[in-house]
Amino acid sequence: MSVVALIGGQWGDEGKGKVIDSLAGKAKMVIRFSGGDNAGHTAINPYGEFKLHLIPSGVFHPHVICIIGNGVAVNPAVLLKEIEELRGRGVEVNNLLVSDRAHLVMPYHTLLDGLEEERRGKGALGTTRRGIGPAFADKVARIGIRTGDLLDKDAFYRQLNSTLEFKNAILAKLYGHPPLSLEEIFHQYCRYAEQLAPFIRETETTIHQALAKGESILLEGAQGTLLDPDFGTYPYVTSSSPLVGGGSQGTGIGPMEISRAVGVFKAYITRVGGGPMPTELKDDVGELIREKAKEYGTTTGRPRRCGWFDAVAGRLSVQVNSLSDIALTHLDIFDGFPSVRICTAYRLDNKTVDYFPSNATALERCQPVYEELPGWQESIADTRDLESLPQQARRYVARIEDLLSCPISFIAVGPAREQVVEVKPILP
Ligand code: IMP
Repeated sequence: MSVVALIGGQWGDEGKGKVIDSLAGKAKMVIRFSGGDNAGHTAINPYGEFKLHLIPSGVFHPHVICIIGNGVAVNPAVLLKEIEELRGRGVEVNNLLVSDRAHLVMPYHTLLDGLEEERRGKGALGTTRRGIGPAFADKVARIGIRTGDLLDKDAFYRQLNSTLEFKNAILAKLYGHPPLSLEEIFHQYCRYAEQLAPFIRETETTIHQALAKGESILLEGAQGTLLDPDFGTYPYVTSSSPLVGGGSQGTGIGPMEISRAVGVFKAYITRVGGGPMPTELKDDVGELIREKAKEYGTTTGRPRRCGWFDAVAGRLSVQVNSLSDIALTHLDIFDGFPSVRICTAYRLDNKTVDYFPSNATALERCQPVYEELPGWQESIADTRDLESLPQQARRYVARIEDLLSCPISFIAVGPAREQVVEVKPILP
């Protein structure tokens, strides 16, 4: 039996969609466990190029059961659009299930996400404005509405009525915004309910049947460890846990069932939105990485901040997720670079530190200490085994393994499904 959790090791956008799409052929089930449509998972395969926001990246394999887990915040309009787009491009979505415990993103969530950001002014977090923070805030405030609630119209109406009264008071008193209409939202969400009803169900039984049969299950994370509300660069973080632990919480699979934990890391690092980023490159090299790798947000189109690989942050990811493996992506972006750098420590207030400070202002003061390695000039796009990688690329990979004390089992050498060097099989 194999339950493999696959999570982002950095600030998201590490290429989790591609890795899942490549691995899912050997899986029976793929479950998205956190985040919402703030995520954008890219997969390039024989069906074409796709940017998935909610549907698990295993959807391109017809035998795979894809589940949107209880830990995801679901915007039904986005989900329906995604289903329609997939179907329109020849991808079947018959094996999709949505947990009835997953919370809904409501119109007031998206509206408030934008208003809260404007109110923060210079201190804006740079959220994706998809309403994800407000939706998860309602979940813990116990005023959230779940996908399962859509299936009982009367109960849904009562819930919406009481929550909307509260939200409209905030909108009016804090933001001077006109109230949202109860009837409009109710009817709109009833229409969504009709279309989504075939997918919504209690998913625990299906998941635990698969576990009992010893089937291979992939847990698909969203965002990345450094955006975790506990271990990320708080308050510049997202609002659900992108960690392996979140994979347990967001699916209903106990932690003891998870047999492998794979952290996906880019060969460099990127961040979109505000917050500290010690290895950020505000020069030509950063620009070169951004242009070569098309580092623009999948969901918002914002240019991503680019920098050298940060092994200090990487070690934190390995620790808080107990990673068993690393999947290193975008290694081909360094083809033709004269040299490459890895940050091995920080200089903080005249001291050298090898840990990732918990405090955002301390992290802001951290200066990276770099180690420089020779680059490689040839293209690695067609390489499929470790031995055929240029010696300098192997050295770079080995140095990251060494600094993070974790083996690299999978290397992506291009965006397409087959552009992979599988060092050690992740799924049997
Ligand atoms: P939110 O999740 O939309 O509330 O945004 C909070 C922070 O997480 C912002 O810095 C976003 O840019 C960042 N973020 C959210 N989702 C993603 C993602 O999928 N990739 C990268 N950054 C993300």
